[in-house]
Amino acid sequence: MVRVLLVGNGAREHVIAESLSKSPNCQSLFSFMKANNPGITRVSKKVTVGKYSEIAQIVDFAVENKVDFAVVGPEDPLNEGVVDVLAKKGIAAVGPSKSLARLETSKSFTRDLLRKYQIKGNPDYQYFDSLQGIAEFIASLDGVVIKPDGLTGGKGVVVQGDHFTNTQEALAICEKYLAEYPRILVEEKLEGEEFSLQCLCDGKTVVATPAVQDHKRRFDGDTGPNTGGMGSYSYPDHLLPFISEGDLVEGLAITKSVAEAIFQETGELYKGVMYAGFMVTKKGLMLLEYNARFGDPEAMNILPLLKTDFVELCQAIIEGSLASLPVVFENYATVCKYVVPKGYGLPDDHPYNRYTSTKLTVGEVGPARLYYSSVDQKDDGIHFSSSRAIGVVGIAPEIEEAQRIAQNAVMAIGGEVAHRSDIGTPELIAKRIANMKKIRGA
Ligand code: AMP
Ligand code: GLY
Repeated sequence: MVRVLLVGNGAREHVIAESLSKSPNCQSLFSFMKANNPGITRVSKKVTVGKYSEIAQIVDFAVENKVDFAVVGPEDPLNEGVVDVLAKKGIAAVGPSKSLARLETSKSFTRDLLRKYQIKGNPDYQYFDSLQGIAEFIASLDGVVIKPDGLTGGKGVVVQGDHFTNTQEALAICEKYLAEYPRILVEEKLEGEEFSLQCLCDGKTVVATPAVQDHKRRFDGDTGPNTGGMGSYSYPDHLLPFISEGDLVEGLAITKSVAEAIFQETGELYKGVMYAGFMVTKKGLMLLEYNARFGDPEAMNILPLLKTDFVELCQAIIEGSLASLPVVFENYATVCKYVVPKGYGLPDDHPYNRYTSTKLTVGEVGPARLYYSSVDQKDDGIHFSSSRAIGVVGIAPEIEEAQRIAQNAVMAIGGEVAHRSDIGTPELIAKRIANMKKIRGA
């Protein structure tokens, strides 16, 4: 029986908390959160609300409660070095050290690692700390994407054709970013369909979880600004209708090579989640980015399907025994939809950001699972903040039913909130399949 520390307060951490607390091997859960998530609180023995930058407070909380290990949900505490400080106190974690979290926090670290170790999947790229040479590099490519080289929550990436058109506009964006970040990455624009492959790694063994497709754009039809993710789906066979078994094998092979390269480069074993954002393109699988944690929303698609005991899985990651643990997921379809404040992802002065009430009501959600994110349980009910509020998940043998379950649940949540009704619908999935056919030139 173990005592576990969970760091994080989103819907991703709510589903992690559920997976931990339902394990017969979990004696008690201790949760450190930035805001009081009622779903996590309900399954925790004790909670503390504080800042992720207050590492000492997190570590004191872990030590006082004699936890056996920690699970770190979000990237911010990883970037603050919480895993390193816990290790000094003899507490192991599912989550990489600050140095290895560069896999997510430094896009140039990851791109250079793939280049140095000749791992497939890098687009053409260069990074810059001044405007010098950017125009020439842009001229050598058909289209570009500009990314700040730091933690931006997926929101700082701008794509030619979507967010800007010509070199002049690109340079203006680069100039703006260079005033905020030490470096920017300019890379070749890729065309294709994206999917998330969240892998578990004990430093040596890498295990894939079901492939998931997230939806980053704020509005139906993949329009509007990029967000942290509006919802996601997965298929019963753990593939997606536009990817082949071969694509998945290739994705896992890339992540295995990256885990090996990390060890060769740093001498440290990566213990945690290596979540790759891949794009299936004409040229094969290309890597958009790695995250050093589960995806949010994608964790809500895979963890409810996990048949393997999650505490045992965490222990295998920490102890380096993942090779001898069967990791099994049920063969169901999942559809996750995020209920968000109407103004989520939009500029502060957007008319959608003028709320008269931040209160939510949750009606009859049927068989859907409900995972709380940025909400606060107050005496008069549940209030939302400026971030994603509730993730609802439909799970069923077929995607159509999973979609209906999620959509019905979303409609039962009242307040000045919004969602994407198209996620997991046959129409949107058919569009993805057609796009992929066009791209592969079939
Ligand atoms: P990232 O945070 O790097 O995953 O980027 C966020 C989003 O920007 C991705 O999910 C893609 O939709 C888009 N994106 C990033 N890199 C590229 C690229 N090289 N080509 C086309 N789109 C990209
Ligand atoms: N779903 C995007 C992310 O977790 O970064």
